[in-house]
Amino acid sequence: MDALLGTCSLSRLRQRTSAKWRAHPADVLPAFVAEMDFDLAAPIKQAVTDALAAGDCGYAHKGALGDAYAAFAADRLGWDVDPGRVYPIPDVMTGLAEVIEAITPPGSGIVVNPPVYPPFRFRFGFYGRRIIDAPLTRDETGRYDLDPAAIEAALSQPGAAAYVLCSPHNPTGNVWSATQLEMVADLCQRHGATLLVDEIHAPLVLPGARFVPFGSLRHEMAGHAFVFTSASKGWNIPGLKCGLAIAGSDQGAALLEERWEALLAAHLGVLASVAAFTEGLPWLDAALHQLDQNRELLADLLSERLPAVGYAQPQASFLAWLDCRALGLGDDPATAFLDKGQIAVSRGPAFGGQGSGFVRLNIGTSPELIAEAVRRMALACQGADPPAAP
Ligand SMILES: Cc1ncc(COP(=O)(O)O)c(C=O)c1O
Repeated sequence: MDALLGTCSLSRLRQRTSAKWRAHPADVLPAFVAEMDFDLAAPIKQAVTDALAAGDCGYAHKGALGDAYAAFAADRLGWDVDPGRVYPIPDVMTGLAEVIEAITPPGSGIVVNPPVYPPFRFRFGFYGRRIIDAPLTRDETGRYDLDPAAIEAALSQPGAAAYVLCSPHNPTGNVWSATQLEMVADLCQRHGATLLVDEIHAPLVLPGARFVPFGSLRHEMAGHAFVFTSASKGWNIPGLKCGLAIAGSDQGAALLEERWEALLAAHLGVLASVAAFTEGLPWLDAALHQLDQNRELLADLLSERLPAVGYAQPQASFLAWLDCRALGLGDDPATAFLDKGQIAVSRGPAFGGQGSGFVRLNIGTSPELIAEAVRRMALACQGADPPAAP
């Protein structure tokens, strides 16, 4: 691995005290929550330690965040963002929830595309909103797609007020094309639904795919949507608590400004994010190179040790969505993997009914730990019952 990423030594990783490393006992290999195992990027470490040394731990100030993100978006994503339209938020889910609370009446329906990041399915319920599913389609090769008919049907339901699009998509790893995004935009426009686009995985689009920022579309909806992103996935700093909300319209900007106190990021997170977007690009490139190799390695390991598992390589990020239905481990194979293999993966059913029989494996780590994860999964399958005939 590139020296910038470190070695992912298991004994050092086990010294970490984050959710990934403390949710399970030490004999379990954690590969569930979306934290990567690489060393922190040096410019981020420097920015945070400089702030600590200066006692600079007050309330967040936006500082250079808007300019830093605008430069990153222009350079890496081909999107000209107005830095004035960029707002720091504590994290993407809080930003989404706060905006949904502001723009939709209680009882409204929020459209999502399962299988999808589990908090999309429960978080808005805390605010009295209900989820309307517009499931992705899945072909025989395991590739997913947005389904215009399902989206149309979901947006036609009474009370459907907003659509939360995950772009790139977690857990399937899809990177949506301009045509797919325009289809979503057309449908939202026709049905008068507000579009909120979660682009948290955008810095991690892998070779071969082209990410289209929603805000870069020449579509009227680009001027009305809210886009959410962060350095938290790309540079593995979710614990520093800073995301970004980008308002498409003056009205959206006014809403974010009015709610600044509910959306206060952590100051250290803002400083770390500025460092990531400006000086963190060599580290990001090293991570992308490694993740590209990792997704290929996983394909090889699965075909060797678990050929019955269905796996379509992600086009972005470090999450592999695995179809384990042929393994005979039931609807929630994560339980057998944990109990019999001491490997903790994310439970498929948490991503919606479409996740029954699936798991999500985190490959944001070293080749050695991916090999160990697959070894443990294969171990858990020894003696498993063959699946019932369909
Ligand atoms: C699609 C998606 N959105 C949001 C989040 C959570 O981000 P945050 O910690 O900024 O709320 C994640 C975390 O994995 C994610 O995958």
